[in-house]
Amino acid sequence: MKKLIIINGPNLNLLGKREPAIYGSLSFTDFLNKIKTKYPKVQLEYFQSNIEGELIDKLHEVGFSYDGIILNAAAYTHTSIGLGDAVKAIETPVVEVHISNTFNREEFRHQSFISPNAKGVILGFGLQSYELAIQSF
Ligand code: DQA
Repeated sequence: MKKLIIINGPNLNLLGKREPAIYGSLSFTDFLNKIKTKYPKVQLEYFQSNIEGELIDKLHEVGFSYDGIILNAAAYTHTSIGLGDAVKAIETPVVEVHISNTFNREEFRHQSFISPNAKGVILGFGLQSYELAIQSF
């Protein structure tokens, strides 16, 4: 059984309520329940934090024993050298995901400190981006 974790960064706790035109109207809890039913052979955990250091601590905690990490670092994607370094420091492969297509949005969203050390990047498919990432492991 593959052990995967989805790690979501800042403001993603508001999914379903936050800018639904961009991020959809489904809460992440509802989405996660669907996904867990659909992929019973995957041991799927979930962690969300609005705090950069907590995200780094979680990467350290899981990054030497899990089979895969699905990381949506949200706004920290574009700002955090610390998170980028953490992705580089761990052994577990990280797939970077984004709900929106960050390349057809503001220019500051075009840069990622995660991508250079990610196994791959999936973006622009709405919440399905997470599902595609699960399938990639
Ligand atoms: C996001 C894109 C980021 O630019 C933004 O800051 C987010 C969400 C996405 O999933 O589309 O919070 O990572």
